[in-house]
Amino acid sequence: MISRQPPTRSQIIVGAILTSILLLFFFHGRNPGLNGLGGRPAELRRFGRTGKPPNSDIFNSTLGFEKIFVIGLPTRTDRRDGIILQAAVSNMEIDFIDGVKGDTVPDKAIPIGKDQSRIGNASIGSWRAHMNAVQEIVHRNLSSALILEDDVDWDIRLKQQLYDFSLASRALTQPLSSSSSSSPRYVDPTFNQPPDSMPNQIPTIKFDNLPSTIAPIVSPYGDDWDLLWLGHCGVTFPFDRPNHDKLPKGRVIHFDDVTVPPKGNLWSLNKPFTLVQDYPEHTRAIHHTQEGVCSLGYAISQRGARKLLYELALKDVSDGFDILLRFFCEGGKAGRKAHKCLTAQPGYFQHHRAVGPTSHASDIGNHKGGYREKGLTI
Ligand SMILES: *[C@@H]1O[C@H](CO)[C@@H](O)[C@H](O)[C@H]1NC(C)=O
Ligand SMILES: *[C@@H]1O[C@H](CO)[C@@H](O)[C@H](O)[C@H]1NC(C)=O
Ligand SMILES: *[C@@H]1O[C@H](CO)[C@@H](O)[C@H](O)[C@H]1NC(C)=O
Repeated sequence: MISRQPPTRSQIIVGAILTSILLLFFFHGRNPGLNGLGGRPAELRRFGRTGKPPNSDIFNSTLGFEKIFVIGLPTRTDRRDGIILQAAVSNMEIDFIDGVKGDTVPDKAIPIGKDQSRIGNASIGSWRAHMNAVQEIVHRNLSSALILEDDVDWDIRLKQQLYDFSLASRALTQPLSSSSSSSPRYVDPTFNQPPDSMPNQIPTIKFDNLPSTIAPIVSPYGDDWDLLWLGHCGVTFPFDRPNHDKLPKGRVIHFDDVTVPPKGNLWSLNKPFTLVQDYPEHTRAIHHTQEGVCSLGYAISQRGARKLLYELALKDVSDGFDILLRFFCEGGKAGRKAHKCLTAQPGYFQHHRAVGPTSHASDIGNHKGGYREKGLTI
């Protein structure tokens, strides 16, 4: 400790001038951003820039959702140990939802189409565990919750990433500040439009130049979404398909996102991988969800949870859970309609494969074979 004399008047003036100069620099930083470990500077900078209140709830221990649920079999204590450590590092509060063994679910509890047969028990178990999480959200009337699978990994800058995501999701779904509540307008002209009148253009919105939108009341991510598909193994920019609902086509493009890995490290089950083919290195895109695969992490609003329970728990369980989630988002089998689902490429939650026998990777799929010498996140 250094003990000090009280500052003199001139010292105070010099200090005040220096502070003003620093603040000027601070608020004029060109690339608002991602230079911290999930800290506040970028948020403060934006606050200074736009005059809108900061969305600080996203930095709270449940990432701006009401709860975080992690799904996993209680017997996989290795994964619980891991995820509890990860959550502690990121200062996140999580609750567990027990995974379900499919063979304990009786036929009578599984809605099934006329000519369908029961899908495999591993998929039934996964479906049931996810449905239990969604049921919990509806039952407890939670305003929103994030549901994670127990083998996921994330960036230590997760909170900053989700903060940025929220700016994009609000731009895509909140009415423009310049419009009236009786006739809301959106920066994405394809959002909230009757499908027939939807323009075919692809509205591209730059992350560095987001429009001013009406502040949401319920969720810092916006008040007009059902599901945020935040962790996946691939997703596609919406495109029109015959006999399918049209999805809104707006996309927010975040260039120079320092948390996006180099292209060589990006991976997607969906081909073509448009993000990598058409955009520069370190670009993240936020858009409506088509052809999502893998249910690593997704958030649902209360409204979304109710619809999801109706569409996926009470209608034909014909496919693996992630494919059912796809039907929920874009419409499909059993007369399902599209819902409001947003996503990011690349996503924010990835699979983590720990060192050990490769068969340990999944209780659903078959990963038999060798031994993984080096842990990896893919
Ligand atoms: C985090 O913020 C959300 C959104 O405002 C809120 O619902 C939730 O209760 C907050 N979490 C905590 C632990 O305060
Ligand atoms: C699933 O489990 C049930 C109940 O144990 C069993 O009768 C059925 O044969 C199993 N299905 C498959 C495809 O293994
Ligand atoms: C559920 O939450 C909403 C919004 O906070 C509230 O208006 C409603 O009364 C709640 N319903 C129940 C059954 O608590």
